[in-house]
Amino acid sequence: MSRLEEEVAKRALAYVLNPPSAPNDVVRYASPDQLVAAFQTATALGLENDVAAADNQALMAAVDLVVKHSIHTSHPRFLNQNFAGPDPISVVGDWLGAALNTTGATYEAAPVFTLMESATLSKLGRLAGYLEPAADQLPTLPPGLFCPGGSTATLYALQLARHRRQPDIVTTGASADRLTLFVSDAGHYAATKSAALLGLGTNAVVKVASDNNGAIEPAALREAVARSAQAGKVPFAVIATAGTTVTSAFDDINAVADICQEHGLWLHVDGCYGGSALFSPKHRHLLAGVERSDSFVWNLHKMMGMTQQCTALLVKDPTQLAACFAGQADYLFQPDKLYADYDSGDRTFQCARRIDVLKLWLSWKYHGDQGNASRVDHAVEMADYTRGCIAASGGEFAAIVPGDFTNVVFAWVPSELRPWPAEGVPGLEPATHTRLHALPPKIKARMQAEGTAMVGFQPVHGLNSFRLLYMNPAVTTADIDAVLDRIAEYGRASDQSSR
Ligand SMILES: Cc1ncc(COP(=O)(O)O)c(C=O)c1O
Repeated sequence: MSRLEEEVAKRALAYVLNPPSAPNDVVRYASPDQLVAAFQTATALGLENDVAAADNQALMAAVDLVVKHSIHTSHPRFLNQNFAGPDPISVVGDWLGAALNTTGATYEAAPVFTLMESATLSKLGRLAGYLEPAADQLPTLPPGLFCPGGSTATLYALQLARHRRQPDIVTTGASADRLTLFVSDAGHYAATKSAALLGLGTNAVVKVASDNNGAIEPAALREAVARSAQAGKVPFAVIATAGTTVTSAFDDINAVADICQEHGLWLHVDGCYGGSALFSPKHRHLLAGVERSDSFVWNLHKMMGMTQQCTALLVKDPTQLAACFAGQADYLFQPDKLYADYDSGDRTFQCARRIDVLKLWLSWKYHGDQGNASRVDHAVEMADYTRGCIAASGGEFAAIVPGDFTNVVFAWVPSELRPWPAEGVPGLEPATHTRLHALPPKIKARMQAEGTAMVGFQPVHGLNSFRLLYMNPAVTTADIDAVLDRIAEYGRASDQSSR
């Protein structure tokens, strides 16, 4: 056998270029006990007190088990989450970055990657309208930085928001003011976690009502801000969501920006999921007004197929980053070394920073703007096709929200429970609700057991509902037909067996 590294790399490359796609290959699900037993035949999963070096044959057997029992997110019937199998060019870009193992903190340690970050963040900033089209393409101070994931970037954005309101807080600590921030009740839980970490307390997050699709009600936001101020609290930020996790709803950013402007609030746009609509001339109108925000988080590892993670935090006024985060470590950010003005490390909380930009830069150059647009357009086309199937199903499937972007949220309805009430979920009899609510977990468990597909479910308007979304450009309408057929087939069987 050649060197272990070569063998593992060969396996990984073969997987990336040719991922499983046969109908029942989405997953070989195993219980924890079954996994432990399987690895016992190669090399144990546990690490003993004294770990002896394993031989290459045992390690390759373990590598094969890793692949066999992992979820095949590249399979076109993996429709479970708002990410899917990665773009192969992104995987090899990630490997190259790992091979060159450095930190993005300084020009000294990462000269090429510092310029790549500057170029990529500037392009993202131009797409978001933060920079003019004619802006410097390689600025020493680009409009943001790459962060380890959307939740972390949300935390940083809220720290920036609070810093603008209370700049002394970085030195003196939290004030007695009860700061409040606002996000829709369909927004991501990163807001609440960030409030806890920032010492604001989770009660500082005011959840504002959203409409039937999941977009914030601007009138409810206006009222919530006024009520908070009247109660003696200090509103400081609003998060507008561009693409909610479950229904892919877009808040009206201009309406939210008007309210922020009236009250002097920081406007943060959570575009973790839907930010990529900006790549598409057809769909970028969904983010109209994003240029009026103060910060914007964009996960390229969702719709754009970058390996996890690849998150850009864009900031309208990037001088605020250093003011808020700098620690001035003189052993790292010496002002008198070469090209220190490019150093990004003292503009963030982290010290070492992964080179997440390389894979994105490589993929962008490889596919071009047009390729990026097609990826987003394909996801919406597949969702539109699914909405059409639901509408034409004669009541077998019922849309839970209308939806118009990448996510389709619906229920499977046994024949005796049709037609679906005109009022939607609130019109369901309690016994019918209970029966329908129990089905998605059973249907999903059978999919996992048989490996036929993976789809998500979660309560929407109080009813467990399926969510299909198309992050993988390899998904075809035949895959969608097959997945809907499986849902109906397993639904009929589960419903009958439980009665
Ligand atoms: C709308 C939205 N915001 C924030 C996040 C958090 O991003 P991450 O998983 O990278 O922390 C997600 C993740 O699904 C999301 O959908």
